[in-house]
Amino acid sequence: MSQDYVVKDIGLAEFGRKELDIAETEMPGLMALRAEYGDSKPLAGARIVGSLHMTIQTAVLIETLVALGADVRWASCNIFSTQDHAAAAIAAGGTPVFAIKGQTLEEHWDYLDKSFQFPDGANMILDDGGDATLYVLLGARAEAGEDIIAVPQSEEEEAIKAQIKKRMAQSPGWFTKTRDAIKGVSEETTTGVHRLYDLHKKGQLPFPAINVNDSVTKSKFDNKYGCKESLVDGIRRATDTMLAGKVAVVCGYGDVGKGSAASLQGAGARVKVTEVDPICALQAAMDGFEVVLLEDVVGSADVFVTTTGNKDVIRIEHMREMKDMAIVGNIGHFDNEIQVASLKNHKWTNIKEQVDMIEMPSGNRIILLSEGRLLNLGNATGHPSFVMSASFTNQVLAQIEIWTKGEEYQPGVFILPKHLDEKVARLHLKRIGVKLTELKKEQADYIGVTVEGPFKPEHYRY
Ligand code: NAI
Repeated sequence: MSQDYVVKDIGLAEFGRKELDIAETEMPGLMALRAEYGDSKPLAGARIVGSLHMTIQTAVLIETLVALGADVRWASCNIFSTQDHAAAAIAAGGTPVFAIKGQTLEEHWDYLDKSFQFPDGANMILDDGGDATLYVLLGARAEAGEDIIAVPQSEEEEAIKAQIKKRMAQSPGWFTKTRDAIKGVSEETTTGVHRLYDLHKKGQLPFPAINVNDSVTKSKFDNKYGCKESLVDGIRRATDTMLAGKVAVVCGYGDVGKGSAASLQGAGARVKVTEVDPICALQAAMDGFEVVLLEDVVGSADVFVTTTGNKDVIRIEHMREMKDMAIVGNIGHFDNEIQVASLKNHKWTNIKEQVDMIEMPSGNRIILLSEGRLLNLGNATGHPSFVMSASFTNQVLAQIEIWTKGEEYQPGVFILPKHLDEKVARLHLKRIGVKLTELKKEQADYIGVTVEGPFKPEHYRY
């Protein structure tokens, strides 16, 4: 059989394996699942398509899914986030992976398509941002005769549409067959979860989905403490700029915004925040950040970071007003938070991979990171292993839940039960020397819980 992977350089596998070995020591949740389920193999028979940043941490996730009995094929969910040595190690280990750092948009959708091509067809999706789910559902609608994206609004839409057409021509009926075979999806991130709830509202979600993002041990850790480490890491690796004393603006103060503001503050920057939600604005103010309008600070700040999951947050009129050499980047899932498309007819000078200097009409230049795609994965290596272990332990539990109990679920979007959330946290305590106090029976009765937990009601917000 011809080689069933696309990676930059398979010779990087040995380096990848060494980093994987180190990551395993920092991913106690995933390793505990291997110990707990390695013999019973609850994922036997599952053929999982993964569409999630192909990093070292994801490699540990993939090998955990395989250890639990799954067949896996993988693509990255972002054109800049792949760590080529991680992809090489996975390919060398025999799991088909299709991901290269710096792949084109056309390749992105082609690789996603390749990750669906199990000899017997895929039956599960593990998604980050919703691209794999979108691909199958849009394709099935196209096969049903719908004009899915009549006029593509972006390069992204053009690329997905072209790939759907190609697959329809190659294998008529493939999308519908694949959609009907999928038992369910587990979704990693805020933006993908928005897409799922939206699909469900429109009656277009045909299978159950587990919202991994809203496990407490995901969004209140990865989105927050992960970005706290990886945002400044990305800016530093890209620019080597001195952050202490600089004025940084963080757009959005949700979980990612909170981590990002803390990251910049930790580096000594003077941080300002923009928000649309009065609750998050009040939180930012009471955490000590000045809450401002972007328009009022756009000419004086040095660093701008979008964290909103929304579109058109930093617009062309803002970038025109920025000081010379202002740094502009995004850590939200998609690249439309900054109006990068409107910069296309400006003069671009590439400094190095994923760092561009763009000249504005005034003569001022801005430094744009990762062409507006998430900079912590484009310019650095994403979140550290320990926090990703918590996220990915939820992912594996979600895959087991859907694969083994899928029939108990109707199509819709679900969250893992709180006892599993608490289990994920518990699995990460020993590694960092946390000693947990045990409730006495009378104390448990007094606050209305059991000694083993769950310790909080569903409405508790952490
Ligand atoms: P969130 O919903 O908690 O926070 C987003 C915040 O942005 C909200 O508070 C909202 O009110 C605010 N916002 C929306 N439009 C705005 C505007 N025009 N101006 C200012 N503020 C605005 O979402 P979360 O979990 O913080 O995720 C944000 C994005 O980051 C999503 O796209 C998510 O998928 C992505 N993400 C990226 C990660 C990474 O490693 N790069 C990790 C986790 C999530």
